[in-house]
Amino acid sequence: ATPEQTEAARRGAFSSRRVFILAAIGSAVGLGNIWRFPYVAYENGGGAFILPYLIALLTAGIPFLFLDYALGHRNRGSAPLSFARLRKGTEFLGWWQVGICAIIAIYYAAIIGWSMRYMFFSVDKAWGSDPEKFFGGEFLSAADPSAGVTFDFVPGILVPLLVVWVVVIAIMALGVQKGVGATSVIFIPVLLLAFVALVVQALLLPGATEGLNALFTPNWSALKDTAVWAAAFGQIFFSLSIGFGIMITYSSYVGRRTDMTGSGLVVGFANSGFELLCGIGVFSALGFMAQASGVQVGDVASGGIGLAFIAFPAIISQAPAGGLIGVLFFASLILAGLTSLVSILEVVISAVRDKFEMSRVGATAVVALPIAVVSVLLFSTTSALTVLDIMDNFINKFGILLVAVVSMLVIAWALRALPALARHLNRYGSIPVRGWWVALISVVTPAVLALILVKELRDTA
Ligand code: PHE
Repeated sequence: ATPEQTEAARRGAFSSRRVFILAAIGSAVGLGNIWRFPYVAYENGGGAFILPYLIALLTAGIPFLFLDYALGHRNRGSAPLSFARLRKGTEFLGWWQVGICAIIAIYYAAIIGWSMRYMFFSVDKAWGSDPEKFFGGEFLSAADPSAGVTFDFVPGILVPLLVVWVVVIAIMALGVQKGVGATSVIFIPVLLLAFVALVVQALLLPGATEGLNALFTPNWSALKDTAVWAAAFGQIFFSLSIGFGIMITYSSYVGRRTDMTGSGLVVGFANSGFELLCGIGVFSALGFMAQASGVQVGDVASGGIGLAFIAFPAIISQAPAGGLIGVLFFASLILAGLTSLVSILEVVISAVRDKFEMSRVGATAVVALPIAVVSVLLFSTTSALTVLDIMDNFINKFGILLVAVVSMLVIAWALRALPALARHLNRYGSIPVRGWWVALISVVTPAVLALILVKELRDTA
């Protein structure tokens, strides 16, 4: 066997570039596309947001994606190992990302579990006439946040959460190709079909055009606002799953002679294309809701939990073929969410395997079981919403952007590793990586990220 085959047998590997691309798209396309992008775009200039968004994609998103790819593909390791192979003392950057992923997994799973219940609720509109009251009340039995975190279990959310974890642990135990890869190969095409069907249904609703007008009418003066630019960069980073160690991990499973830059372009544009589709679907539905309740689209526009579990149920109750819209919408959240959850867990499992030379099943047990237990304990209680809020805030403050800035600065300035990484990318890559890339990664992107970070910390302080 060649050294590459031995390595693949030991660590696991994707069977082809196509599987890698689908897995990377699977990670990128998640809740952020469906419930975050449409609202962020609407709030930040509508049609005019496309400009900062595209600039963020081209000047920061894709270049940073290339960096993650270069790290993992060249150093052939999980995030900590890839950093350690660059320079011993930087291993902690990888573990920082591993920690972030472990925390995100705890609550990401909960949202998928809720979506599973809501997919069934869609059929008979179980939320009745007041979806908001139903969500916090009957469904979550949410306790008052001031009561702190208490462990009163709610069976209705315990069961789907257990289902999510059983499925995900089985996928992880199956390994890189048969688990992670196969999941994306199957789920991503199904997701695309489900979502396109949803968009068609939504476009047929009365009021859809008003929704689309509200989303796409450009507010050019928004471009003068730095917050709008910060929102664009923030959305690109979250949406492409960069800076989490995910893309480092996935690219370490790709054959050595692979065109990584060409792959990155495909992943970047596929993710943004899907994001745009999500904007169209979500705002068509919101336009319908505004018309049906005789208000402006701005009065019903929302994102996140509120969009999925309060606004959409209301739409599903009122729309013709609402049940179908509901099943397609929640199925999309589940499929998009699962492929992202799998990618976050792979970061942790891969790191533990590389470090402690554990078997696939052993590492899955050691990593995924404790995360699952914490997830189930915290998120099947009456305090689920409170915990979600705390974790989300924590991750946003200490997580993604900070580790992204630090790692770019360390790689570019302390290690001066960018030329070597560029040379690696250029060996088999179809997009030539040159000085422009070095300039973007060492100066432009970290500067923009630092500005966003400072702004965020100031806003929350
Ligand atoms: N990229 C995912 C999305 O758009 C979010 C995500 C971030 C998933 C980090 C996994 C890890 O929803």
